[in-house]
Amino acid sequence: MGKTYVVANQKGGVGKTTTCVNTAVCLAEAGATVLLIDIDPQCNATHGLGMHETAGPNSYDIFSGGDAPAAIISTSIQNLYLIPSTRDLAGTSVELPGRDRREFILADALLPVAVNFDYVFIDCPPSLGLLTLNALVAADRIIVPVQCEYYALEGLGQLMQTVEMIRAGLNPRLEVAGLLMTMYDPRTRLSTQVVQEVRSHFPELTYRTIIPRNVRLSEAPSFGMPISHYDPTCAGSDAYFDLATEVVERE
Ligand SMILES: Nc1ncnc2c1ncn2[C@@H]1O[C@H](COP(=O)(O)OP(=O)(O)O)[C@@H](O)[C@H]1O
Ligand SMILES: [Mg+2]
Repeated sequence: MGKTYVVANQKGGVGKTTTCVNTAVCLAEAGATVLLIDIDPQCNATHGLGMHETAGPNSYDIFSGGDAPAAIISTSIQNLYLIPSTRDLAGTSVELPGRDRREFILADALLPVAVNFDYVFIDCPPSLGLLTLNALVAADRIIVPVQCEYYALEGLGQLMQTVEMIRAGLNPRLEVAGLLMTMYDPRTRLSTQVVQEVRSHFPELTYRTIIPRNVRLSEAPSFGMPISHYDPTCAGSDAYFDLATEVVERE
Protein backbone atom coordinates (compact mmCIF):
# COMPACT_ATOMS: atom_id res chain seq x y z
CA MET A 1 0.00 0.00 0.00
CA GLY A 2 1.40 3.37 -1.03
CA LYS A 3 2.05 6.36 1.15
CA THR A 4 -0.15 9.42 1.08
CA TYR A 5 1.61 12.76 1.48
CA VAL A 6 -0.12 16.06 2.02
CA VAL A 7 1.73 19.29 1.28
CA ALA A 8 0.25 21.89 3.59
CA ASN A 9 0.82 25.24 5.23
CA GLN A 10 -1.99 27.71 5.89
CA LYS A 11 0.19 30.48 4.49
CA GLY A 12 -0.14 31.22 0.80
CA GLY A 13 2.78 31.54 -1.58
CA VAL A 14 5.24 29.44 0.43
CA GLY A 15 5.86 26.85 -2.29
CA LYS A 16 3.21 24.19 -1.55
CA THR A 17 2.09 23.68 -5.12
CA THR A 18 5.60 23.90 -6.56
CA THR A 19 6.73 21.28 -4.05
CA CYS A 20 3.74 19.01 -4.55
CA VAL A 21 3.91 19.01 -8.34
CA ASN A 22 7.67 18.67 -8.69
CA THR A 23 8.12 16.03 -6.00
CA ALA A 24 5.27 13.97 -7.46
CA VAL A 25 6.78 14.28 -10.95
CA CYS A 26 10.30 13.31 -9.74
CA LEU A 27 8.92 10.17 -8.11
CA ALA A 28 6.88 9.29 -11.20
CA GLU A 29 9.95 9.79 -13.39
CA ALA A 30 11.88 7.49 -11.08
CA GLY A 31 9.34 4.78 -11.90
CA ALA A 32 6.81 5.07 -9.06
CA THR A 33 3.10 5.20 -9.84
CA VAL A 34 1.90 8.50 -8.44
CA LEU A 35 -1.49 10.15 -7.99
CA LEU A 36 -1.57 13.91 -7.47
CA ILE A 37 -4.79 15.31 -6.02
CA ASP A 38 -5.45 19.04 -6.33
CA ILE A 39 -7.90 20.24 -3.67
CA ASP A 40 -7.16 23.96 -4.01
CA PRO A 41 -10.01 25.86 -5.73
CA GLN A 42 -7.27 27.98 -7.32
CA CYS A 43 -6.28 24.90 -9.37
CA ASN A 44 -2.58 25.85 -9.49
CA ALA A 45 -1.31 22.25 -9.49
CA THR A 46 -3.81 21.33 -12.22
CA HIS A 47 -2.73 24.25 -14.39
CA GLY A 48 0.94 23.69 -13.56
CA LEU A 49 0.68 20.27 -15.17
CA GLY A 50 -0.80 21.81 -18.28
CA MET A 51 -4.34 20.67 -17.52
CA HIS A 52 -7.31 22.96 -17.84
CA GLU A 53 -10.60 23.11 -16.10
CA THR A 54 -13.11 21.11 -18.03
CA ALA A 55 -16.50 19.69 -17.33
CA GLY A 56 -14.66 16.41 -16.74
CA PRO A 57 -13.92 14.63 -13.50
CA ASN A 58 -12.40 16.62 -10.65
CA SER A 59 -11.88 16.71 -6.90
CA TYR A 60 -15.15 18.55 -6.31
CA ASP A 61 -16.94 15.37 -7.45
CA ILE A 62 -15.40 13.56 -4.48
CA PHE A 63 -16.52 16.21 -2.02
CA SER A 64 -20.01 16.04 -3.44
CA GLY A 65 -20.25 12.30 -2.95
CA GLY A 66 -18.72 10.86 -6.14
CA ASP A 67 -16.26 7.99 -6.50
CA ALA A 68 -12.55 8.81 -6.43
CA PRO A 69 -11.56 6.30 -9.16
CA ALA A 70 -13.89 8.05 -11.60
CA ALA A 71 -12.14 11.37 -10.95
CA ILE A 72 -8.65 10.19 -11.93
CA ILE A 73 -7.21 11.28 -15.27
CA SER A 74 -3.84 10.54 -16.84
CA THR A 75 -1.28 13.28 -17.53
CA SER A 76 1.42 13.83 -20.15
CA ILE A 77 3.92 12.39 -17.66
CA GLN A 78 4.28 8.65 -17.55
CA ASN A 79 3.15 7.05 -14.25
CA LEU A 80 1.61 10.33 -13.07
CA TYR A 81 -2.14 10.55 -12.61
CA LEU A 82 -4.18 13.53 -11.49
CA ILE A 83 -7.44 14.34 -9.80
CA PRO A 84 -7.76 17.91 -11.07
CA SER A 85 -9.39 20.75 -9.22
CA THR A 86 -12.07 23.20 -10.23
CA ARG A 87 -13.18 26.59 -8.98
CA ASP A 88 -16.43 24.92 -7.87
CA LEU A 89 -14.46 23.51 -4.95
CA ALA A 90 -14.75 26.92 -3.30
CA GLY A 91 -18.39 26.00 -2.63
CA THR A 92 -17.33 23.30 -0.16
CA SER A 93 -16.76 25.94 2.51
CA VAL A 94 -20.52 26.32 2.77
CA GLU A 95 -21.52 22.80 1.72
CA LEU A 96 -19.26 20.65 3.89
CA PRO A 97 -19.96 21.95 7.42
CA GLY A 98 -23.41 20.34 7.50
CA ARG A 99 -22.26 16.94 6.23
CA ASP A 100 -21.88 13.68 8.13
CA ARG A 101 -18.25 12.62 8.73
CA ARG A 102 -17.28 15.86 7.07
CA GLU A 103 -13.56 15.46 7.92
CA PHE A 104 -13.45 11.92 6.47
CA ILE A 105 -14.88 12.49 2.99
CA LEU A 106 -11.51 12.39 1.22
CA ALA A 107 -10.08 9.60 3.40
CA ASP A 108 -13.13 7.40 2.79
CA ALA A 109 -13.05 8.09 -0.95
CA LEU A 110 -9.33 7.31 -1.23
CA LEU A 111 -9.48 3.96 0.57
CA PRO A 112 -10.08 1.93 -2.61
CA VAL A 113 -7.68 4.15 -4.60
CA ALA A 114 -4.48 4.48 -2.57
CA VAL A 115 -3.71 0.75 -2.94
CA ASN A 116 -3.16 1.25 -6.67
CA PHE A 117 -0.42 3.87 -6.26
CA ASP A 118 3.06 3.95 -4.77
CA TYR A 119 2.44 7.56 -3.75
CA VAL A 120 -0.49 9.89 -3.42
CA PHE A 121 0.32 13.62 -3.13
CA ILE A 122 -2.35 16.12 -2.07
CA ASP A 123 -1.93 19.84 -2.77
CA CYS A 124 -3.87 22.00 -0.29
CA PRO A 125 -5.34 25.50 -0.31
CA PRO A 126 -3.72 28.12 1.93
CA SER A 127 -5.95 27.64 4.97
CA LEU A 128 -6.67 25.18 7.75
CA GLY A 129 -10.29 24.86 6.65
CA LEU A 130 -12.22 21.68 5.97
CA LEU A 131 -10.47 20.92 2.67
CA THR A 132 -7.05 20.87 4.34
CA LEU A 133 -8.47 18.95 7.33
CA ASN A 134 -9.80 16.32 4.94
CA ALA A 135 -6.33 16.03 3.40
CA LEU A 136 -4.68 15.70 6.83
CA VAL A 137 -7.15 12.99 7.81
CA ALA A 138 -6.51 11.11 4.56
CA ALA A 139 -2.70 11.34 4.75
CA ASP A 140 0.11 9.32 6.30
CA ARG A 141 2.61 12.18 6.17
CA ILE A 142 2.69 15.93 5.94
CA ILE A 143 5.38 17.95 4.19
CA VAL A 144 5.44 21.58 5.34
CA PRO A 145 7.07 24.09 2.98
CA VAL A 146 8.50 27.04 4.92
CA GLN A 147 9.47 30.14 3.00
CA CYS A 148 12.85 31.68 3.93
CA GLU A 149 11.23 34.93 5.00
CA TYR A 150 11.06 36.95 8.17
CA TYR A 151 7.75 35.55 9.43
CA ALA A 152 8.65 31.94 8.59
CA LEU A 153 8.02 30.54 12.06
CA GLU A 154 4.79 32.43 12.53
CA GLY A 155 1.90 30.07 11.91
CA LEU A 156 4.09 26.96 12.18
CA GLY A 157 3.05 26.54 15.83
CA GLN A 158 -0.61 26.60 14.89
CA LEU A 159 0.00 24.12 12.08
CA MET A 160 1.90 21.74 14.38
CA GLN A 161 -0.91 22.01 16.95
CA THR A 162 -3.44 21.14 14.28
CA VAL A 163 -1.35 18.10 13.30
CA GLU A 164 -1.21 17.02 16.97
CA MET A 165 -4.96 17.47 17.32
CA ILE A 166 -5.58 15.33 14.25
CA ARG A 167 -3.18 12.63 15.46
CA ALA A 168 -4.95 12.55 18.81
CA GLY A 169 -8.36 12.09 17.27
CA LEU A 170 -9.17 11.89 13.61
CA ASN A 171 -6.01 10.28 12.19
CA PRO A 172 -3.41 8.65 14.48
CA ARG A 173 -1.32 7.62 11.41
CA LEU A 174 -0.40 11.19 10.54
CA GLU A 175 3.30 12.02 10.90
CA VAL A 176 5.31 15.06 9.98
CA ALA A 177 7.55 13.89 7.13
CA GLY A 178 9.53 17.10 7.15
CA LEU A 179 9.79 20.87 7.01
CA LEU A 180 11.12 22.12 3.70
CA MET A 181 12.90 25.46 3.45
CA THR A 182 11.87 27.13 0.18
CA MET A 183 12.87 30.20 -1.86
CA TYR A 184 16.26 30.32 -0.22
CA ASP A 185 18.41 33.20 -1.41
CA PRO A 186 22.07 32.66 -0.47
CA ARG A 187 22.83 36.35 -1.06
CA THR A 188 20.70 37.50 1.83
CA ARG A 189 21.67 37.09 5.45
CA LEU A 190 17.96 36.82 6.27
CA SER A 191 17.59 33.57 4.32
CA THR A 192 20.51 32.00 6.19
CA GLN A 193 19.17 33.20 9.54
CA VAL A 194 15.72 31.83 8.87
CA VAL A 195 17.13 28.42 7.95
CA GLN A 196 19.18 28.40 11.17
CA GLU A 197 16.18 29.42 13.23
CA VAL A 198 13.87 26.78 11.79
CA ARG A 199 16.60 24.13 12.13
CA SER A 200 17.14 25.07 15.77
CA HIS A 201 13.43 24.66 16.51
CA PHE A 202 13.00 21.51 14.41
CA PRO A 203 16.45 19.88 14.12
CA GLU A 204 15.19 16.41 13.21
CA LEU A 205 12.28 17.47 11.07
CA THR A 206 13.89 19.99 8.73
CA TYR A 207 14.92 18.47 5.41
CA ARG A 208 18.60 18.64 4.50
CA THR A 209 17.53 19.73 1.02
CA ILE A 210 16.86 23.45 0.67
CA ILE A 211 14.94 24.78 -2.33
CA PRO A 212 16.66 27.87 -3.73
CA ARG A 213 14.82 30.86 -5.10
CA ASN A 214 15.00 30.06 -8.79
CA VAL A 215 13.28 32.00 -11.53
CA ARG A 216 12.93 28.87 -13.69
CA LEU A 217 10.72 27.32 -10.97
CA SER A 218 8.39 30.31 -11.16
CA GLU A 219 8.30 30.25 -14.98
CA ALA A 220 7.60 26.55 -15.44
CA PRO A 221 3.89 26.56 -14.39
CA SER A 222 2.97 29.16 -17.00
CA PHE A 223 4.15 26.65 -19.62
CA GLY A 224 2.17 23.88 -17.92
CA MET A 225 5.37 21.98 -17.21
CA PRO A 226 7.09 20.58 -14.16
CA ILE A 227 10.63 21.86 -13.69
CA SER A 228 12.20 18.60 -14.83
CA HIS A 229 10.68 19.17 -18.28
CA TYR A 230 10.97 22.95 -18.45
CA ASP A 231 14.64 23.15 -17.45
CA PRO A 232 16.07 19.85 -16.22
CA THR A 233 19.50 21.30 -15.47
CA CYS A 234 18.56 24.37 -13.40
CA ALA A 235 19.20 24.65 -9.67
CA GLY A 236 15.48 24.31 -8.90
CA SER A 237 15.25 21.04 -10.81
CA ASP A 238 18.30 19.64 -8.98
CA ALA A 239 16.83 20.68 -5.64
CA TYR A 240 13.49 18.94 -6.21
CA PHE A 241 15.30 15.81 -7.38
CA ASP A 242 17.29 15.90 -4.11
CA LEU A 243 14.10 16.41 -2.13
CA ALA A 244 12.40 13.43 -3.77
CA THR A 245 15.45 11.32 -2.91
CA GLU A 246 15.34 12.52 0.68
CA VAL A 247 11.60 11.88 0.95
CA VAL A 248 12.16 8.27 -0.11
CA GLU A 249 15.17 7.90 2.24
CA ARG A 250 13.15 9.09 5.22
CA GLU A 251 10.58 6.37 4.74
N1 LIG B 1 11.87 28.17 -5.21
C1 LIG B 1 11.19 29.09 -5.87
N2 LIG B 1 11.84 30.09 -6.53
C2 LIG B 1 11.15 31.03 -7.20
N3 LIG B 1 9.81 31.09 -7.29
C3 LIG B 1 9.11 30.12 -6.65
C4 LIG B 1 9.76 29.08 -5.93
N4 LIG B 1 8.80 28.28 -5.41
C5 LIG B 1 7.63 28.78 -5.78
N5 LIG B 1 7.79 29.89 -6.53
C6 LIG B 1 6.75 30.76 -7.10
O1 LIG B 1 6.16 31.45 -6.00
C7 LIG B 1 4.75 31.49 -6.13
C8 LIG B 1 4.11 30.76 -4.96
O2 LIG B 1 4.49 29.38 -5.02
P1 LIG B 1 3.41 28.23 -4.87
O3 LIG B 1 4.13 26.93 -5.01
O4 LIG B 1 2.27 28.47 -5.79
O5 LIG B 1 2.98 28.45 -3.37
P2 LIG B 1 1.65 28.01 -2.58
O6 LIG B 1 1.11 26.79 -3.26
O7 LIG B 1 2.12 27.74 -1.19
O8 LIG B 1 0.71 29.17 -2.63
C9 LIG B 1 4.44 30.89 -7.47
O9 LIG B 1 4.37 31.90 -8.43
C10 LIG B 1 5.62 29.98 -7.74
O10 LIG B 1 5.85 29.79 -9.12
MG1 LIG C 1 -0.77 26.41 -4.05
